[in-house]
Amino acid sequence: MDGKNREKSSLLITRIPMTKNTNFISIQNISKHFGDVIAVDQVNIDIREGEFFSLLGPSGCGKTTLLRMIAGFESPTNGEIFIDGNPMSEVPPNLRPTNMVFQNYAIFPHLDVRANIAYGLRKDHLSREESNLRVEEALEMVKLPGFGTRRANELSGGQRQRIALARALIKRPKVLLLDEPLGALDKKLREEMQLELRSLQESVGITFIFVTHDQEEALTLSDRVAVMSRGEVLQNASPKELYSKPVNVEVADFIGKMNFLNAQVDKIDGDRISLNAQGFGSIQATATGDFLEQGKDVIVAIRPEKLVLSTTPVTSGKASVAGKLNTSAYLGDRSHYYVSVNGCDHPFAVATHEIESASDELLERGREVWLSWAEESLILLPVA
Ligand SMILES: Nc1ncnc2c1ncn2[C@@H]1O[C@H](COP(=O)(O)OP(=O)(O)O)[C@@H](O)[C@H]1O
Ligand SMILES: [Mg+2]
Repeated sequence: MDGKNREKSSLLITRIPMTKNTNFISIQNISKHFGDVIAVDQVNIDIREGEFFSLLGPSGCGKTTLLRMIAGFESPTNGEIFIDGNPMSEVPPNLRPTNMVFQNYAIFPHLDVRANIAYGLRKDHLSREESNLRVEEALEMVKLPGFGTRRANELSGGQRQRIALARALIKRPKVLLLDEPLGALDKKLREEMQLELRSLQESVGITFIFVTHDQEEALTLSDRVAVMSRGEVLQNASPKELYSKPVNVEVADFIGKMNFLNAQVDKIDGDRISLNAQGFGSIQATATGDFLEQGKDVIVAIRPEKLVLSTTPVTSGKASVAGKLNTSAYLGDRSHYYVSVNGCDHPFAVATHEIESASDELLERGREVWLSWAEESLILLPVA
């Protein structure tokens, strides 16, 4: 580190101003093959400066491999990664503006907290005073002020993870790469750390690339999420868009709970689509897309909270179908009811706060009920 940077040492907590740099990190046509295994398959992603970006997908879909290529621990088979406009292919990990936090936080048990955090600075040749100052700043950022002299083996799981974060942050990376950093924590602690991670990211303004297989975690934390499957990015969008406009059945099924129905396109009139749906008969939807062709099979998707359950036939003029109540699950703030419709393979999940025109006692298993919905809540998707 040169003298100029040293003078800036107390600026650690200053927020990097929001710029319009929408492709601060640009992942261009990146693939990684391990022999016959295609771990990452032609991925294109642009990440904004200061963004909290997540890679979400089931185990083995290529998240870690992609993250390791951004860090420089793995070189791509094809493609190029740019950070702040610079190609990274010839840049070794230690010279990239990135730092990584792992799930199995590699804390040295024989060192105290200060030494563990300062370990990241060992090549920077700072004075002891400067180094201690930076450690204390980093400890404050992760809400563990004064913990410097604790032994690492005197820390809880959550505290150890904060130390790992502090060690990554003390290097002042422009990009923090986090590989399932909360995976080893229990649910309550994990939720607490999620909120803290988000407020930390907002206060320091560093770009975060966060890997998780937990969709709730990704939706809670992120500005945008890339949903991955078998090495590919299926959809890259804001949490809200992923939830309300999934591009295919795989994303729709992975993000939240979704009901699916087989149907055939009957008529297309602009964005007005008439469908013949299994068990439901003739229904209408509003949609556009290349996959919509007269006579073709499509999948109709609808969220449980978009279905309305009634114990009397629906007379409001809304589209509806009759069914039989199957099972219900009480979830405290809401209930899930499952309704079988003749001719459909699976019962439909309905999430509801209260039932129209009925008290819960009337909702015994096997009784006839009606489902209704607003046309615009139907999502049409291509057959997988
Ligand atoms: N070093 C490696 N050698 C061979 N195969 C690997 C290697 N690293 C990862 N893979 C394979 O690449 C795929 C993606 O792995 P990974 O990126 O770890 O997925 P994720 O982090 O989403 O669970 C998997 O099939 C995995 O077995
Ligand atoms: Mg992984």
